[in-house]
Amino acid sequence: MTVATAILELFHRAPGQFVSPDLLRRVAGNALAAEILELQQLGYAIESHPHLGYRLIASPDRLTADDIRARLGDTVLGAEILVFEKTASTNDVAAYLADSGAREGVVVFAEAQTKGRGRHGRAWLSPRGKGLWFSIVLRPNLAPAAMSRITVAASVAVARAVRQATGLDARIKWPNDVTIGGRKVAGILTELHGAVAILGIGLDVNCRPEDFPVDLPATSLSIASGRLLDRIALAAALLRELDQTYRCARQDFNPIVAEWAQWSTTLGQQLVLRMGERRIDGHAQALDSDGALLLRRDNGQIERILGADVILERS
Ligand code: BTN
Repeated sequence: MTVATAILELFHRAPGQFVSPDLLRRVAGNALAAEILELQQLGYAIESHPHLGYRLIASPDRLTADDIRARLGDTVLGAEILVFEKTASTNDVAAYLADSGAREGVVVFAEAQTKGRGRHGRAWLSPRGKGLWFSIVLRPNLAPAAMSRITVAASVAVARAVRQATGLDARIKWPNDVTIGGRKVAGILTELHGAVAILGIGLDVNCRPEDFPVDLPATSLSIASGRLLDRIALAAALLRELDQTYRCARQDFNPIVAEWAQWSTTLGQQLVLRMGERRIDGHAQALDSDGALLLRRDNGQIERILGADVILERS
């Protein structure tokens, strides 16, 4: 842990309160004044008092590894965090790091992506400083047939974090969208590279209506809630939920399937899917323990559909 992380952790543990110089010196030693100055230069409003110590008044709207770590606690996902001002796609950076031996749980955030991508090669808009655009290196040790669990677990984590942060009724649209009021607020792109999975998540946090093309049925947390959200707090909350749901994906997945079903807008719907040249329609019946959708065809047959392979044409 860096000294800056340790200082910020003490501030976040006592929101709005002074933290004593003794306590702060225990983590920063003689470098305390220099570390505080550095945080102030990064935009942290920190008040000092000769006897009471220091207190944090406001944090800048800027993602930093130190501050996300300071709010995260003990998790595997996010034990190491990198933040870039700009990348092509965080999924590519994470894949490169994985290829170079990065351990499970390394997270790559970018304030802006120039080539953010969604499923089926679609572009993913990633305006600077408005959202959470990030990718996680996973080494899941799951059978190939169960890899869909990762996307399902991630969608439950995103829905939970959004619900907690905003109180809004976040829903999950199979296979990989989180929606509010029928409009997409987050997308998930899981890409497999042998035994490695790169989990990419885009969450529209403080995007404004003019950040989206007019015909896109998208929204952001700020549009839906009417207020700006703290992206750093949300990033930490989201990583904590992802850490928990991912652990379930590897151990006991049934509670995640039940939670997914509770928030799903897809179950019970008549769907039209496209798989390459093939068009399939049927009734969305359930999600199975591998994270595949069970679709009841008109002839009564049940077909298992893996989200990665399909485009949802109509629900
Ligand atoms: C989709 O809805 O089609 C998936 C969108 C995934 C977007 C995220 S943003 C971070 C990561 N990097 C990318 O290039 N894509 C994912």
